[in-house]
Amino acid sequence: MRQFLTVISFMLLTIGAFAGFSNLGIPQIEPAPPPVEEVIDLGSMNMEQFIALGDRIFNGKGTCTLCHNSLGRAPDLGQIGTNAQARLDDDRYAGDAADIEGYLSESLTNPSAYVVVGFGKAGSDDTESPMPSTSGGSIALSDPELAAVIAYLQDKGGLEVTVEIPTDVEVPEEEPAEVASGEPRAPFTTFQELADEFACEACHTIGEEAGDLGPNLSAIGASRDAEYIRRAILDPNADIAEGFDEGMMPDDMGEQIYAIELEIMVDFLSQLK
Ligand code: HEC
Ligand code: HEC
Repeated sequence: MRQFLTVISFMLLTIGAFAGFSNLGIPQIEPAPPPVEEVIDLGSMNMEQFIALGDRIFNGKGTCTLCHNSLGRAPDLGQIGTNAQARLDDDRYAGDAADIEGYLSESLTNPSAYVVVGFGKAGSDDTESPMPSTSGGSIALSDPELAAVIAYLQDKGGLEVTVEIPTDVEVPEEEPAEVASGEPRAPFTTFQELADEFACEACHTIGEEAGDLGPNLSAIGASRDAEYIRRAILDPNADIAEGFDEGMMPDDMGEQIYAIELEIMVDFLSQLK
């Protein structure tokens, strides 16, 4: 009996050790499920729902929170209520907006019309914005989506919401990426899908898409090897590319991607020469 118990407890310990290892020792990947395309009928929306739509775009498809977050990569938009009028009154203002709604709209589609002091592209003396246009490029919000984001910004800044809900269009809306435990998403299979999903091109120029907050990666393979690139993605602050600041590139990529996806990105980038 004693021996039987010893065997049983040894087995339990072994199983326990394996379970513990698989939970703690292997990095857990909590990928987001694929976005659900939901068609929203704007005609039946009230302003509260329209603002909520803007909130979802701001935190999801718009990729705004990559930069507008507490890390200080971009201005705090909670203060936009007081800041917007001051921008318009500033001598440096070079745009065409007549009111706050116009300023917000212009900020989204032509960010360089006014560059907040200290946030310009390196070397541009705050004349060029590193923010990509959100109506084109890889973000590509539609006009109704931009309107929803403006309504959200006005509401968030404690301003009067002056945007009108467009009536005759439908916006396809992506659900915010939620972490669903136990239901892993299917891995992406191409670099472009990954770059779109993780908005690499909001910050980097890779081929045709132009982002300026991070280094141009169009020929990264000529100067960096696969190992460097892998580390740059998983642990961005391990090496800081010259002329750029620490803490700018998101450092949670490793928790969001599959190993196979990491290798797709590393292979693709290493071959850009
Ligand atoms: C790649 C980083 C990045 C992304 C993505 C980004 N922004 Fe910006 N944004 C900036 C930076 C940097 C500035 C400051 C420079 C300037 O004034 O253009 C800025 C400025 C702004 C301003 C003007 C702020 C002010 O105080 O006058 C608004 C409004 C704004 N962004 C909204 C957005 C919204 C909404 C989105 C998403 C649809 C977004 N941004 C996406 C980096 C980004
Ligand atoms: C919010 C902006 C932002 C996003 C999004 C972003 N990066 Fe970066 N990235 C940067 C900045 C800034 C640097 C330079 C600072 C540093 O080295 O950490 C950088 C550095 C890099 C480097 C090293 C470049 C060098 O020459 O040392 C690589 C490789 C890279 N990023 C790949 C990616 C990939 C792939 C993605 C998408 C999965 C991505 N980045 C998303 C901002 C960003």
